[in-house]
Amino acid sequence: MGTVIDAANKEANGSLLTDKKVTVVFVLGGPGSGKGTQCANIVQHFGYIHLSAGDLLRAEIKSGSENGTMIQNMIEEGKIVPSEVTIKLLQQAMEESGNDKFLIDGFPRNEENRAAFELVTGIEPNFVLFFDCPEEEMERRLLSRNQGRVDDNIETIRKRFKVFMESSLPVIEYYDSKGKVRKIDAAKPVEKVFEAVKVVFTPSGDQVAV
Ligand code: ADP
Ligand code: C5P
Ligand code: MG
Repeated sequence: MGTVIDAANKEANGSLLTDKKVTVVFVLGGPGSGKGTQCANIVQHFGYIHLSAGDLLRAEIKSGSENGTMIQNMIEEGKIVPSEVTIKLLQQAMEESGNDKFLIDGFPRNEENRAAFELVTGIEPNFVLFFDCPEEEMERRLLSRNQGRVDDNIETIRKRFKVFMESSLPVIEYYDSKGKVRKIDAAKPVEKVFEAVKVVFTPSGDQVAV
C-alpha cells in the first residue's frame, strides 16, 4: 500500500463524510470552458456548495502553507498537483461546509486524482457535468479573463490544453463508459449554456414543456 493513500485514508476515517450520504457532481471541461461561471449559477438555483479545486489550491498558496511553493510552481507550469494535497483540501472544505450536495469543479483532473478520491473518500459522483468547448474559444476567454492569474498567459495556456487532452479527457471517457457524463455545448453564450445545465439538474418529472 502506498504511504500517500494510507495517510489520506487515515484522514477520512471517522469523518462526517464517511457517515452520511453525500451528493457529488464533478464539473469538468477544458481551461476556460466556463466551469466556474456555471457553478455560480447552479449554486443559486439548486442549493449546491461549489468547491473549485483550483481555487482551493490558490487559497493554500496564499495561506502560506508549507506546500505553497510547490503548488505555485505546478500551477505556473500547468501541471497537476499530487492528489493527496488536493484531496485533503477538498475533504476539509466538504466537512467544514456542513452541506451534503457538492459541485466539485476541476477535479478529478487525471486518473490518479480519480482513483485516489474514490479510495480515500469512498464517494462516487452522481454524474459528471462536462463542458465541451473548442480550444480557440477557451483560449480567447482565458486571455481576456483578467483575474491576474499566473497561468492565464499563452505559454501556460498551451501547456494546460495539452494536459487536458492527455490526462483529463481520459477521465471523462472513463465516466462516459459508465453512462455518467452529461455533456453540454459550452461554446454558446452564458445564458444558453445555463439553460442546458438546468435541464440536467431538473428531475425529469419537473421539466416544463416550452
Ligand atoms: P473555467 O472555470 O472553466 O476555467 P471560467 O468560468 O472562469 O472558466 O470562464 C473563463 C472566462 O470566460 C471568464 O472570464 C468568464 O467570464 C468567461 N466565460 C464563461 N462562460 C462563457 C461563455 N459561455 N461565453 C463567453 N464567455 C464566457
Ligand atoms: O481549474 P483551474 O483552472 O482553476 O486550475 C488551475 C490549476 O490548478 C491547474 O492548471 C493545475 O495546475 C491546478 N490544479 C491541479 N489539480 C486539480 C485542479 C487544479 O493541480 N484537480
Ligand atoms: Mg475555474
